[in-house]
Amino acid sequence: MTGYDVHEVRKDFPLLSKGLIYFDNAATSLTPRKVVDAMVNYLLECRANVGRGSYPLARIATEMYEDVREKAAKFIGAKPKEVAFVKNTTEAINLVSAGIKWRKEDNVVITALEHHSNMLPWLRSSKLHGFELRTVKPNRDGLLMVEDLEKAVDNNTRVISVAHVSNVLGTITPLKDIAEVACSHGALLFVDAAQSAPHMPIDLRSFKCDFLAFSAHKMCGPPGVGVLYINEGVEVEPLNVGGGTVSDASLSGYRLVGRPAVFEAGTPPISDVIGLGAAIDYLTSIGLENIARHEVELARKIRKSISALPFIKVLGPEDPQTGIISFSVEGVKAEDVALAMGNLNICVRAGFHCAIPLVRDILGEGLGVVRASLYLYNTAEEVDVFLEALENVVRTLKGVS
Ligand SMILES: Cc1ncc(COP(=O)(O)O)c(C=O)c1O
Repeated sequence: MTGYDVHEVRKDFPLLSKGLIYFDNAATSLTPRKVVDAMVNYLLECRANVGRGSYPLARIATEMYEDVREKAAKFIGAKPKEVAFVKNTTEAINLVSAGIKWRKEDNVVITALEHHSNMLPWLRSSKLHGFELRTVKPNRDGLLMVEDLEKAVDNNTRVISVAHVSNVLGTITPLKDIAEVACSHGALLFVDAAQSAPHMPIDLRSFKCDFLAFSAHKMCGPPGVGVLYINEGVEVEPLNVGGGTVSDASLSGYRLVGRPAVFEAGTPPISDVIGLGAAIDYLTSIGLENIARHEVELARKIRKSISALPFIKVLGPEDPQTGIISFSVEGVKAEDVALAMGNLNICVRAGFHCAIPLVRDILGEGLGVVRASLYLYNTAEEVDVFLEALENVVRTLKGVS
């Protein structure tokens, strides 16, 4: 039992009525009608800029926008002023990695499980500022062992930045233990929650974290907006300055406003923020715990069945921790599998999943991997169709009957 009626939930997603099996939710999710309705309502009925005008319509738009900040803060157990709206998780990580006043003796610790978005910004800053970037490898199951991470951390570690959930292996990072390591060395902790916030409850009151980011488009919201949590006690320079970020300006200088406005220069993506608010309401009404349980149930079914199929190698732990399952087919390019599945109306993603170091260099999957990633609206029936199709596709591609 998942705690909600998945067939009722499916009615909220118009795209699902088209006979499509959408198993590419780690890339982006589908949109429920309520999210679009909320955005349309803002665009047609409440269209004004936010944080600027004093006329009633502008005040209403600002209230709607700030209400979403409160919702987003509550969603992760933070304070509203600790929540800034950014473009996406990628921009959030760039903002922080560019906004810290680095010292040469600093080092940053990431893991080899990271998405390029939680790797390249640190790599670039390390080259620009001359600090060391250290990378911790996961064990054979793709699990990050805290004792391995601890070995890489010392008292010059300025930031530890980890994905809460791996976008390739679906493994969950032990955040509480990592937070303790960070605390004991005086390091800041950045949590890339792109693959967790949409799928499981997060409560920042239960562990010490300095930064956390996620994207609306992976959680039933629109593309174009993400959330960056910055612990109120941590210093970070804004990435952009301009309209909305100053309390005074002259031709020779300016005085910045406080948080969170200081991180939101220029007109923000207001309709997207409104959509994010509706997405948070939507997911909360179903329950993140229920969603997590549902996805793991389906992932277990997939894992168990495809492990028994010839030519297939499933990556990650035997017992899936989330709704992400990646696999390779012996001697076959992952892209060919995804293309063949796509022709059967089944959407899965193939390749290196923006994690080339992990997939190619650590897992040794030079032909890429196929990823099935599930969400609240996927069903056991869809899994059955997927399994049968996959078996046929693999037989065809391997030339066996
Ligand atoms: C773990 C992880 N981090 C970061 C990102 C980047 O997210 P976005 O493209 O929304 O910035 C992704 C996207 O797939 C991801 O899976």
